[in-house]
Amino acid sequence: MLVHIKDLVSDANKNGYAIGAFNAHNLETVLGIADAALKKNSPAIIQVSEGAIRYMGLKPVVHIVTTVAKNVAKYIPIALHLDHGKTFTSVIECISAGFTSVHIDASGFPLDENVKITQQVVAVGHSKGVWVQGEVGAIVGGHGNVSGRIDIPEADPKQVVDFAKKTKVDTIAAAIGTAHGAYENEKINFDLLKYIRAKAKIPFVLHGGSGVPDTEIKRAIKDGVSIINIGTDIKVAFSKTLIAKCRENPDETDPRNLLSPCIDAVSRVVAEKMDLFGSTDRVPFKPKK
Ligand code: G3H
Ligand code: ZN
Repeated sequence: MLVHIKDLVSDANKNGYAIGAFNAHNLETVLGIADAALKKNSPAIIQVSEGAIRYMGLKPVVHIVTTVAKNVAKYIPIALHLDHGKTFTSVIECISAGFTSVHIDASGFPLDENVKITQQVVAVGHSKGVWVQGEVGAIVGGHGNVSGRIDIPEADPKQVVDFAKKTKVDTIAAAIGTAHGAYENEKINFDLLKYIRAKAKIPFVLHGGSGVPDTEIKRAIKDGVSIINIGTDIKVAFSKTLIAKCRENPDETDPRNLLSPCIDAVSRVVAEKMDLFGSTDRVPFKPKK
């Protein structure tokens, strides 16, 4: 069932685990995430980027996620979130369309403009009861990149805290050593994480969750990460499976025979993350008979 993101985050914070925010790119990835959530009895955030919205359409996204949350995930709480909304207009469209959480990523702008745009989104979001995630100290990389090393600049700690206070965002994202994609040299700066958590006093969102060693993820959750974004691992699971199935069955004419294994592959990778994040078996709700 579809719920407000705040319900998920408050239970995760109370009980010391993290919620996975899983990027969905199409119907099949939404189905895979919901399937894992049901199998693992785990809450989940389904998040879509502006690219995913361009691909599926805003209304279809909202309808697909709402319907799948209700009919596939059933009693499992699922929240819908906009990931890396780059413009005021696109974020406001998502708020109007029924998202309970939106990420305004104006981290590419000079700091004062980032603060201003984020404040404007917060004003609209809060007037409608929607949570807003802000970002300062941009997270580098590219979703889907899977090899090699990358230069990973880190956020300025004081700037992050000041940004959180000025904008009044509900959750905060900042570069603390991870990057979008899976790289050899992703390494979390735990002192930076602890400083931001202690001073900003709002839930921290770890972006770039793919490629980060499990030991680092576990320690980050202990140090107060509330939400962990996973995009690349889902893209890779889906695409590798699709390519393999197409190669194995070049004469297949029924897309369902090629795509069903992709749903299963997404479900498996998401289920592994739920175990890692400690969100498995956290659903207090009981199925209706
Ligand atoms: O916003 C999305 C995430 O930060 C995903 O990062 O592709 O490294 O898992 P990732
Ligand atoms: Zn991200």
